[in-house]
Amino acid sequence: MDRRARAAGKVILLGEHAVVYGAPALAAALDRGATARAFPAERDRLALGTRSGSEGDGSDPMRALGALRASLGVAPHAVEAELEMPAGSGLGASAALGVAIARALVLATEPDAVLGSAAVGARVLAAAAAWEGVFHGNASGVDAAAAASSGCIHFSRAAGSEPVRLERPLPLAVAVAGPPASTREMVASVARLRARRPEIVDKAVSGVTALVNNARLCLEAGDLTGLGKLMDLNQMLLSGLMVSTESIERACDAARRAGALGAKLTGAGGGGCVVALADGDPEPILATWRADGLACFAATVGGAEPA
Ligand code: MEV
Repeated sequence: MDRRARAAGKVILLGEHAVVYGAPALAAALDRGATARAFPAERDRLALGTRSGSEGDGSDPMRALGALRASLGVAPHAVEAELEMPAGSGLGASAALGVAIARALVLATEPDAVLGSAAVGARVLAAAAAWEGVFHGNASGVDAAAAASSGCIHFSRAAGSEPVRLERPLPLAVAVAGPPASTREMVASVARLRARRPEIVDKAVSGVTALVNNARLCLEAGDLTGLGKLMDLNQMLLSGLMVSTESIERACDAARRAGALGAKLTGAGGGGCVVALADGDPEPILATWRADGLACFAATVGGAEPA
């Protein structure tokens, strides 16, 4: 039997950064994500695409694998993992790897484990949080929750993750608008802004909370026009937190001119991806981005009841 485990990538529809300070966020799982397989070994090894590391080499991925394995309480393993999307671009690559590797270790060590069960799910999320902790310091957990899900989720630090029922599928377009950026550094930059000007960040956090609450109603009612407007407003608040860039703003404007109902950065910003909500067919948005030289793809979220 193939013991390969999968986890989803994600886009954040609304709520990144504010979610670190307790606001809710809405995230959608992508088909492209990460896969992993694990085999018993004397010492930990990790092969990620063409790169590899081994226990004790001091690298972040090996320290993260050690933390993840300690959280699960399993013996050393050799792990082979693959990413189906760019890292550091707001698509949740690191969390997808953490969840896929945790699932692979569970499959390798507990042949009867049911990955979909609540008990295994909670252990996988705790292990992925230990992995994420090495890369991100103050991760809210939204990326790992999305990586472990399908469809769309509502997430907050206090309440965790809950599936959102979508009245209509979401036709999304995603572009790589800028170079990779470090989530750790972007989260730290908002923390520095908060230390200097707490009123700016606190206002943004309450603004985002209101937007997310309304966006959830839009998702449940199938009001994609309303959802798009809320995404645009969220992008303005993210600019106010100084996590947007010129190339992100340009890609958002281009998407809106091509008919997008709304567009914003996804993830930590400072570079990376933008997500646009299409009014039906995402192709005109993709064609505009391609003409601007941006790598991009379409994704549909939902269309069936969340699992
Ligand atoms: C990154 O995808 C989302 C952030 O809010 C960080 C986090 O919530 O862990 C920027």
